[in-house]
Amino acid sequence: MGVVIPLEEGKNKQASVKPLVDLTRADMERVNQLILSKAGSDVQMIPEVANHLISSGGKRLRPMLTLAAAAMFGYQGDQHVKLATSVEFMHTATLLHDDVVDESDLRRGKSTARTIWGNQASVLVGDFLLGQAFKMMVEVGSLEALDVLSTAATVIAEGEVLQLAVAKNMETTEDDYLQVIRAKTAALFAAAAEVGPIVANAGRAERNALKSYGMNLGLAFQLVDDALDYGGKAADLGKNTGDDFREGKITLPVILAWRRGTAEDRAFWREAIEGGASDDANLERALALIARYGGLADTIARAQHYGTIARDALAPLPETPWKEALLDVIDFCISRVN
Ligand code: IPE
Ligand code: IPE
Ligand code: MG
Ligand code: MG
Repeated sequence: MGVVIPLEEGKNKQASVKPLVDLTRADMERVNQLILSKAGSDVQMIPEVANHLISSGGKRLRPMLTLAAAAMFGYQGDQHVKLATSVEFMHTATLLHDDVVDESDLRRGKSTARTIWGNQASVLVGDFLLGQAFKMMVEVGSLEALDVLSTAATVIAEGEVLQLAVAKNMETTEDDYLQVIRAKTAALFAAAAEVGPIVANAGRAERNALKSYGMNLGLAFQLVDDALDYGGKAADLGKNTGDDFREGKITLPVILAWRRGTAEDRAFWREAIEGGASDDANLERALALIARYGGLADTIARAQHYGTIARDALAPLPETPWKEALLDVIDFCISRVN
């Protein structure tokens, strides 16, 4: 008989982003100032569209990772503020593009830019922000940081295209899915964390530790996000639940329910996801099947697994408040509701 090994529980069960917010508060104020100034343009529609999304908030998780990942290695300069802003601009640009691709109507509790200004403006303003992000990276002058972040930009786009290629196809495997989320989401978390030690001139081992932390945290983050799309409340999320189902997007809760289901269940999934029969009644049925086969619980269990890898990646680093804050973020991401 096999032995059941329980998932390692984090030492710190505080599950809060507050320590990270507190530690990065002063620098995040500078990031937010820079975000506003770099979203400016004489072409009036650019700040209009950009500020609509920027002023709706967002967790600003990725730039906080960059700031913490530099500060934990004793970084004293201010180039990390520019890198953190670049990272958030890359994220903002992908959201503007993503809402076009996904035909989403709600983001951060507000109508998406595309529903107000149209798809064309959303795509082009996203491009503007991406351009601004790269200009700031060039100002920082670290070719290594530029390498990491520009690679992330291409990998994110690859992930989004790969996702498009496997959409509405029930043969999509868990490995395919992992490849998609590693590229579209985890790559930016990894890059955000890795440029911290780069700008702080830390060593290769430290870089790799932060990169692995970011990558595995990003996987956990997207797994939870995909669980929330079926199990969360739209009011908490600031976006519509059930969007993935209506889009025919194949995420882990669906893959698990499909693989564990009967022939009749699979016929249903084919009709719903591949055939586009995604009305509310079918969404209810999908939710019931996902619940019956443990689709959400096991998606969260996978997230915990990657969260543990992220935690172990930081283990060799010295115990500092920064490291503690980064570890707390793992639990926060796994137990988040928005
Ligand atoms: C949304 O990311 C996109 C995903 C990778 C799921 P966040 O949940 O970090 O978005 P904001 O910035 O807080 O709105
Ligand atoms: C978010 O992906 C965008 C990227 C990671 C590029 P999703 O489409 O899965 O996330 P939401 O649900 O719109 O935030
Ligand atoms: Mg989307
Ligand atoms: Mg998407």
